[in-house]
This record gives sequence, structure tokens and C-alpha cells, in this order.
Amino acid sequence: MGGAGQADVKGFALSQQPWGGRFGEEPDPLIHEFTRSLDVDRRLFREDIAGSRAWAKALVRAGVLTPEEQSRIDVALQEIESDFTDNFPPPLAGEGRVAAPEDIHMLVEKRLREKLGPLGGKLHTGRSRNDQVALDLRLYVGGAGAQLLEAITGLESALITRAEEHVDTVMPGYTHTQRAQPVLLAHHLLAYVEMLHRDAGRIADALRRADVSPLGAGALAGSGFPIDRGALAHDLGFGAASANSLDAVADRDFVVELLAACSIAMIHLSRLCGEIVLWTSIEFSFASLPDALTSGSSMMPNKKNPCAAELVRAKSGRVAGDLVNLLMVLKGLPLAYNRDLQEDKEALFDGIDTTLACLHVTARLVRGLRFDRDVMRRAALEGYTLATELADYLSRKGMPFRDAHHLVGRMVAEAIAAHRGLESFSLAELQRFSPLFGAEIVDHLTLEGALGSRDVVGGTAPARVREALANVKA
Ligand code: ARG
Repeated sequence: MGGAGQADVKGFALSQQPWGGRFGEEPDPLIHEFTRSLDVDRRLFREDIAGSRAWAKALVRAGVLTPEEQSRIDVALQEIESDFTDNFPPPLAGEGRVAAPEDIHMLVEKRLREKLGPLGGKLHTGRSRNDQVALDLRLYVGGAGAQLLEAITGLESALITRAEEHVDTVMPGYTHTQRAQPVLLAHHLLAYVEMLHRDAGRIADALRRADVSPLGAGALAGSGFPIDRGALAHDLGFGAASANSLDAVADRDFVVELLAACSIAMIHLSRLCGEIVLWTSIEFSFASLPDALTSGSSMMPNKKNPCAAELVRAKSGRVAGDLVNLLMVLKGLPLAYNRDLQEDKEALFDGIDTTLACLHVTARLVRGLRFDRDVMRRAALEGYTLATELADYLSRKGMPFRDAHHLVGRMVAEAIAAHRGLESFSLAELQRFSPLFGAEIVDHLTLEGALGSRDVVGGTAPARVREALANVKA
């Protein structure tokens, strides 16, 4: 045929492409380069080989391979895996690149045929790269999800450790970035633990739905061989085999879900790291970072910058971008497999790599932070943060809250004008505003008094925070 003839003249490109039979022309180098994905999907070689080893066993059960053939294939696949682990073949240059395999599936198959000859060509019986790549991705997502969960646990435990150390440290709580009411630093840190806990829940939930084996779906219609898909799914550690072959090769919602969970987690990290940037500024001075966790300026000798925290804050946008990238790849795609789906991997890998790195870095920053209890305590008092407690006190004594709010507002205005704090008002001065003020007001006009009053489930009262700490540790 013309194809073979051309291959003889121009090299070996066509004869090297496993799908070359129908083709009469050499691949155009520009198009080949543009469509091949090996440089990206090489990361899936372990998953791909695990899938192939299980597939060979399924082919024995289907009567396609003999047990002896399967065991030769299995040995060869293991050798390929250890070859790739030690040194993955470097990218080819020039002419050789046109002949190079398109993707990881083709590369593994090529190696197998080099090792086993025609027997290597039997492995792809009844299988398509469409169900194969869907399988590889589901296996990868399972592994990545487990790593994410571990990294989240690491950050949670860093926050919990710091919360335990600072269960008595008072800081101003903020709304609108204006000092609002005193809270415990432990309470503030535990807020992030709650967020991370939900992030872990979202990831675990995504993993539950990803736990389905697409192998045996074939190109789109189902394998043409009597594959026991349930046993195959079980061999690969999946909970079940997919119920619809078109769905199995066409959807990537399990990747979307994981990237969505990562995006939300990254938004949480961006807020925590954003606070680290604020807290370590001279303006706040609530905390400092050890030198080793910061970097300097090439020009200004005075600078010590929280660059890692800033980068986590920025990279949250990148992971959200990965999510949107994949959503846009999927939007409007007709069933079943389309080559568009090849674009899923860069988004997935980047989203996972970035999120994992940011979780590790944030945990390091949290462990390294040195909090300044005195500065935080002073700041907690300075913003008239006891005003709500005063209004609550008057309400408890029977004054309608709206009136109490108004009255305390006047007290705050007067205190601001006199450059003094609310806690400096004597009982006599307080009683000028309202006869409802009694001697026990001194217990309320303190940070501890205000904290102690927030004694509801989820509140910042020390007893509640200790309880919350015990709960998150359990
Ligand atoms: N590299 C491809 C991907 O990542 C593998 C599947 C290719 N299938 C095909 N029919 N060309 O999606």
C-alpha cells in the first residue's frame, strides 16, 4: 500500500502509528506535534500499566488470552513500569518525534510489542484508548484525592496545635476589616479548621462518585468481548463498573468535582494566607514569620516579605482557572468521546499540584507564625470592642436593645472625643448615662467579660472554645 511505501521513503512514521492502516499519508509534523499528549499524560504511566495488567486478566476470563500469555504480558508490563520509574524515555527530537507515540497508552503498547512481539498486540483486544484513558484518570483522581485529604489533615493539625497554644490569647474580631468584638485567637484559627473539614468532606464525596470503573466500555458502545466488568472493577479496587458505556467514556464530571473541591479549598487558603499577610505587617504586628519562611528585597535592605503567603493567595485564582478551563472543555460536547477531552489532564494535574503545594506551604507558615499576645490584646481593647457587651448588659437589665444600642453609641462618641476607652468609665460616670448600670458592670467591661458572655454553641466564650477544640481533636 501507498502508506507502507511512503513510510519506506520518508522513514518509519506511518508504520509506527498503530492506527496507520487506513492512512495513505505521513502525519503532518505540525499536526502530529499539536495533537500528541505524551508530554502531559506520561504522568499516568502507573495507572495505565495497572489498568493493562487488570485488563489482561479480564481477557483470560473472556477466553481471549491463555493464562500463560497473560503472565508473560504481566511480567513485561512490570518491567516497563520499573523502566519508566527509573528513567522515563526523554522526548525525541526531529524526525524521530513524528514517529513517536501520541500518548502514554501508545507508548506502553509500543514497549510491550518490542518486548513480546505479536503477543503484545493482543492486549488491546476489546479495549479502546477511550475507556483506557477514562480509567487512568479515575485511578489518578483516587490517588490524588487521598493525597489531598492527607495534606488537609496536616494543615488542620497545624491549626489545632496553634489554637491549643493560644486558647487564652485575645484578639480583635473584625467585620469590614474594622475592629468589632474581642475573640480568642483559638476561635479564629478553629474557624479555618471548620472550612478545611468541609473541604475534606467535598473531596471524599467526589471520590465516592469517582469510584466506578469505566474499563470495558470500549470506544463508546461496550467491549465486543465477554468481559466480566464487575470482576475487572473489583481487581482494580473500584466499588462498581459503570452502568452506561457512553457516559463512561464521555464524562469527566469526577474531575470537575475534584477541581471544584480544590478551588473552594484554595479560596479558604487564600483567605488564611491573606490574613497572614495582614497580621505580619507592621500595621497589624499581630504576628511575625521566622526569617526562613520569608524572603527579602533585591533593593530595600529593610524588607522581609511574606512571599509564600502571597503566592498561596494568588494561586487560588489559578486553580479556579483550571476548574473553569475543564468546564469549558466539556460544555456542549456531543456524546461520546471527543478529542477535546484530552485537554482535561493539564487542568487536573495543575489543579492538584497547586493545591497540594499550597496546603503544605500554608501548614508550614501556620506552624512558623509567632503571635504577639500583647499586641493582639491591646488591639482587642482599643477599638471600643466592648460596646456590644455594654448594650447587651443594658438589654439584660430590661432596656430595649435599640435604646441600649443608641445609648452606648453616645457613650462611644463621648469616649472617642475624650480620647479614652470605655473600660475607663467609673461606675458614677456610667450611671450618668443610665441608672441601670450596677456594680457588677466591672465584670463586663473587660475583654474576659465580653468573651465569657458569648456563651452559645459556636461562640467565642473560653469554655465553648475549649469544647470546640476537644471536638475537632476527636
Ligand atoms: N490521548 C487521548 C486522551 O487523552 C487518549 C484517547 C485517544 N482516543 C482517541 N480516539 N484518539 O484523551
